[in-house]
Amino acid sequence: MTITDPVPELCRILCDDASPNLALRFRALFSLKHLATQGNTSAVEAIAAAFVSNSALLKHELAYCLGQSKQFSAAAPLQAVLQDEAEDSMVRHEAGEALGALGHTPSLELLRSYIGHKEEVISQTCELAVARIEWEASEAAKTELLQTSAFASIDPAPPLPGTVKEVDCAKLQMKLNDQSVPLFERYRAMFRLRDIASPEAIDALASGLDDPSALFRHEIAFVFGQLSDPHSIPALIKAAGNKSEASMVRHEAVEALGSIADERVEEFLKEYAKDEERVVRESAEVALDMAEFERSGQLEYALIPQSA
Ligand SMILES: [Fe+2]
Ligand SMILES: [Fe+2]
Repeated sequence: MTITDPVPELCRILCDDASPNLALRFRALFSLKHLATQGNTSAVEAIAAAFVSNSALLKHELAYCLGQSKQFSAAAPLQAVLQDEAEDSMVRHEAGEALGALGHTPSLELLRSYIGHKEEVISQTCELAVARIEWEASEAAKTELLQTSAFASIDPAPPLPGTVKEVDCAKLQMKLNDQSVPLFERYRAMFRLRDIASPEAIDALASGLDDPSALFRHEIAFVFGQLSDPHSIPALIKAAGNKSEASMVRHEAVEALGSIADERVEEFLKEYAKDEERVVRESAEVALDMAEFERSGQLEYALIPQSA
């Protein structure tokens, strides 16, 4: 039996901007991400090829996947996206964050040049990416005792150190919301709270949804998506349904709701699928597909088995 290379077909599906089936394209992307993470450079190229799409939602997910791929060959297309002034700021943000996730030291100078950029989300993203790369090379990274996380993602910041027994959500909440503390430290408190994952930790995280920074608020929603805990539903619905909230935050809240297998969220997702903001609509469309998949009991959301 001959095993055909799945990359060309996955690339064709992913790059088909005329397709009405965005969820299918996301499935193709997740399959390519899996291959890329295993070192398949043509999968990295296939993901980067889809940056010509006109969907900001899809493009920001491409950047996220490239950042998680651990492949330095993804750095050049990510740098190009970050530098593209005509690109959507959510996509540029994700490209900057991805360079940090790759730990791409050669990008440090470029990332530093965006600190202070007029778009706060780009400036803050690059500040975090620089801090992340610098932290990785630091002595602290070698000596700090980080609790093993239940999440496999490469995050914009490592959690604050702490053991299972050292849990002080009130103290972490104070650090999370303290605007006099560098953003990187506040993100470390955020990821520590995520890893604690108790209802108290979720309430502490929800307090961050009042932060003045849209980047910060969207990351709280992202973390809620990872936790997929019904306890976060009220806070997520408040953010997702708030039409004056930044679309990047609303999108992330919609996606997070989609990751929570709870019948209460479906009616909200159907409503968001009709939203006037494209990125919110598309997020709801993909979220509904994922919820459908959860119910169907299929094993893999991606188009090819993750264990392949
Ligand atoms: Fe993001
Ligand atoms: Fe996002």
